[in-house]
Amino acid sequence: MNSSITQAVIDSFKTEFETALTQAQSLDELELVRINFIGRKGKLGSVMGQLKVADLETKKTFGPILNTLKQSMQQAFNDRKDNLAQLARDSQDNQERFFDVTAYKPSAHHRGGLHPYTHVTNQIQNIFLSMGYQILDGPEVEDESINFEGLNIPKDHPARDMHDTFWLNLPGKLLRTHTSNIQVHTLKNRKPPFAVVAPGRCYRHEATDASHDYVFMQTEGFVVDKNISMAHLLETARKFLNALFGRKDLTVRLRPGYFPFVEPGVEIDIRCPFCTKGCSVCKKTCWIETAGAGLIHPNVLRYAGIDPDEYSGFAFGFGLSRLAILKYHIDDIRLLHTGKMEFLSQFG
Ligand code: DAH
Repeated sequence: MNSSITQAVIDSFKTEFETALTQAQSLDELELVRINFIGRKGKLGSVMGQLKVADLETKKTFGPILNTLKQSMQQAFNDRKDNLAQLARDSQDNQERFFDVTAYKPSAHHRGGLHPYTHVTNQIQNIFLSMGYQILDGPEVEDESINFEGLNIPKDHPARDMHDTFWLNLPGKLLRTHTSNIQVHTLKNRKPPFAVVAPGRCYRHEATDASHDYVFMQTEGFVVDKNISMAHLLETARKFLNALFGRKDLTVRLRPGYFPFVEPGVEIDIRCPFCTKGCSVCKKTCWIETAGAGLIHPNVLRYAGIDPDEYSGFAFGFGLSRLAILKYHIDDIRLLHTGKMEFLSQFG
C-alpha cells in the first residue's frame, strides 16, 4: 500500500477543519473555511484526488471513510452557519431594541405649546367660573337612552337623523353625539339649583369637509332653579360671548330654532366681530351662528325626576370647535385634529 492517505492524516485533517469552524466568528470568515476545506479546490478535494490515484486496497479502505467524512464536514459546516446566522440576528435585534431615552437631547428651538382647544376651553371655563358655574364632565361612550331618550328624542324621532351616530358593538352603546348627555346625568344625580358648564368631545358619523369633522368639541351649559327664563339665557350668552371675543358691545340675537330638548328653542347668533359689511368669516351675512339653546323641555326635567312645575332651566350648546375656528381664524376644522407642527406651533 503505497499512499500518503492514512487514518492519522484523515484524523488530523478533520481536527484542523473543526478548529477552523470554531474559530470562524462571522459568516464571512466561515465562507473562507468552506472554500479552503470543502470547496471545489479545497483541501478535501485534494485528499479525494489522492484517493483516485491510490491503489485498490487504499481505495477500498478509505473510500467509504472519506465519503462519510465529506458528509459530516458538510453537516458540521451547515450547523455552524445556522448558528452564526442566529447570533447575527440576535445581535441586530439587540441593537434595534436598545433605546437610550437619556440620549435624546431636545433642541432648544422645540418648545411645547398649548393646543388651540386648550386655550379656548380654558377661556370658556374661566368666564363661566367667574359667573359662579361649576365645570362638569361626562362619558364619551354613552347609553342610547341618555344620549337620546333622556333628551326627549325617542326612537323614530326625526331629530335622530341629524345625529349620524357611531354605534358600538355593545347593545345600546354609542359615542355621544353631543355634550347634552351631561345635562341628563346632572339632572338625574343632583338636586337643583345648579349652574353647570361642560366642554367635551363629540362624535358624528359624517363626511368631513372644511367645517365638519367626525370628531369635534361642544360646550354644554345649563342652569336649573326656580323661575328661570329666556331673559337669563340671553344675558348669559351676551356676557359670555363678549368676554370670549374681548368685546363689550357684541350684538347677540336669538332666532327660533328647533331642538327636542328645549321649548322654546333658539339659535344664538352674533353680529360678525370681524367686519361691518360682510366678510369671508360671516359669509357676507354679517351674522355668525354660535349655539343652540332654549328653556329645558319639561319632558327632560321629568325624565330625570325633577318636577317641571317647581323648577325651570335654560340650556345651551356652543360649538367649541366653531368658536376656536372663529377666534383664531382657522380655515379648516380638520387642522384641529392633526398633529401638524406648522399649524400647532402658531398657538404657543
Ligand atoms: N345638542 C345640540 C346639538 O348637538 C346643541 C344644543 C342645542 C344644546 C340646544 C343645547 C340646546 O343645550 O339647548 O346640536
